[in-house]
Amino acid sequence: MKRDGQSSATPSTPEERVGLTVEDAIRGRQSIRAYLKTPVPRDLIGRILITAGRAPSGTNIQPWKAYVVDGAVRDQLAAEMCAAYDTAPEPERPYNYYPVKWRDPYITRRRACGWGLYGTLGITRDDKEGMRLQRRQNYEFFGAPTGIFFTIDKDMEVGSWLDTGMFIQSVMIAARQFGLETCPQAALANYHELLRKRLSIPDVEQVICGLAIGYPDPDAKVNTFRTEREPLDVFVKFVDRVA
Ligand SMILES: Cc1cc2nc3c(=O)[nH]c(=O)nc-3n(C[C@H](O)[C@H](O)[C@H](O)COP(=O)(O)O)c2cc1C
Repeated sequence: MKRDGQSSATPSTPEERVGLTVEDAIRGRQSIRAYLKTPVPRDLIGRILITAGRAPSGTNIQPWKAYVVDGAVRDQLAAEMCAAYDTAPEPERPYNYYPVKWRDPYITRRRACGWGLYGTLGITRDDKEGMRLQRRQNYEFFGAPTGIFFTIDKDMEVGSWLDTGMFIQSVMIAARQFGLETCPQAALANYHELLRKRLSIPDVEQVICGLAIGYPDPDAKVNTFRTEREPLDVFVKFVDRVA
């Protein structure tokens, strides 16, 4: 067992996942950044999304929406986003995902994540082109055959973002039962204008993020990268008495 209790013997094929416990499904999930080309059947994506749709939402308003792309549509979007990335600075996301001003402990954790990923890939701090190319992988869905974009209506409030986060995590966990892995991608929201146009996303909707989904490439070095988690006492207080 590692520090965060993540099993190193995470099953990797659909057959092995029969009987996967909820605990293993959650602890064994990691962001996967290299995929096999094997297509994911649409009915399986549908099954996962309908399962995730059982996520709770305040007064059951189910504010989430999902746009699924595969095949030629996925390929065209990836090509267009990569072409845009190669020729101009990345556009701004339509919302602040991160704090405007970074501070500890978050900046330290963020750096550990970034340098950990680059370190796994042998990308050094002065290798700007290596970093650029790794980031570019976002816009190819890390090679995943299917991408999902999540939106909510712009007039929905913070609570609906909370609900949608629960929905997205449910997608990621439900996928694991079928040998599928995922990577949530806020980067994809950078190209919200392009996506709006190509996917006919109505003006009233806001792109939140995307998700790569597919069968993990077992030989890809990038997929050996594991993130740490803080121990329980850092983020939990069992309260013994009222103040
Ligand atoms: C909403 C959201 C957006 C994310 N956006 C990206 C992204 O654009 N690109 C990327 O490589 N990883 C992205 N990640 C993955 C995080 O870096 C990852 O979840 C975190 O480092 C913890 O690692 P783990 O998912 O392997 O446990 C995102 C995660 C979340 C929850």
